[in-house]
Amino acid sequence: MKIPELVTDPAAWQARCHAAREAGTRLALVPTMGYLHDGHRSLLRAARARADEGGRRGLAVASIFVNPTQFGPGEDLARYPRDLEGDLRTCGEAGIDWVLAPSDPALMFPADHQTWVTVEGVSQGLCGASRPGHFRGVATVVAKLFNLTRPHVALFGEKDFQQLAVIRAMVRDLAFGIEIQGMPIVREADGLARSSRNTYLSAEERARALTLSRALRATQEAAARGERDAASLRAHARALLEAAAAKVDYVELVHPETLRPVERAVTGSVLLLAAYFGRTRLIDNGRLP
Ligand code: PAF
Repeated sequence: MKIPELVTDPAAWQARCHAAREAGTRLALVPTMGYLHDGHRSLLRAARARADEGGRRGLAVASIFVNPTQFGPGEDLARYPRDLEGDLRTCGEAGIDWVLAPSDPALMFPADHQTWVTVEGVSQGLCGASRPGHFRGVATVVAKLFNLTRPHVALFGEKDFQQLAVIRAMVRDLAFGIEIQGMPIVREADGLARSSRNTYLSAEERARALTLSRALRATQEAAARGERDAASLRAHARALLEAAAAKVDYVELVHPETLRPVERAVTGSVLLLAAYFGRTRLIDNGRLP
């Protein structure tokens, strides 16, 4: 296993990536906030394969940056888990060539930073309602990472379903010319969706957090049995979450592209869940059959 090259200066990263692209190299990027888990592993491995498409070895690259601009006041920026050494090993095992991990947040967001990317529409509601400013921070850092790297393809997990919709909208509306690939949610053996935030859960909270995937499955089964009324399906999922003493943030059934709420579930409608277990806010989602 080869440890990837670590670049800590975004300007040096930009020079390397742009030179590689100009030399005809294909680039695949996985933007992350680090503390990598199996969900990231699937993105990193897919990036390796996507970089090498066309029979020539490309560059599979990843960024590790805990982006302060996507955390609201009182959110978990200070306690967000970090493990750069472990992350570099994980990247190496997945065949990643280079990793950008800025040595100082001010290298990405200097004091005079004053340009923000706001995606309307799909940013509103859901996580956008409970985390004001979050998607502005995400869209801005992703736009910056795209400009620094100029990848051909970038990969994101479908667990952050709204984030993926925001990034797709930004790339389309601002003509970035980058292919966005969404990757399926990776779950633990008992169904809990992999997330860096799972590490905050006590054993008791983790046991209760399983209700997210159970509520999802139960709702999918109800839809498969013929229940199509969105209000009933939402109520069913909410009741299961509340029975596990979760503080529900939202339970929504939405159109997969517009993220607008639907009244009748159709195949492909997405159930989106967000709930607190103790102080930890977790999200999960799944399509209806
Ligand atoms: O999904 C994440 O880890 C982050 O929101 C992202 C896309 C890397 C932007 O900071």
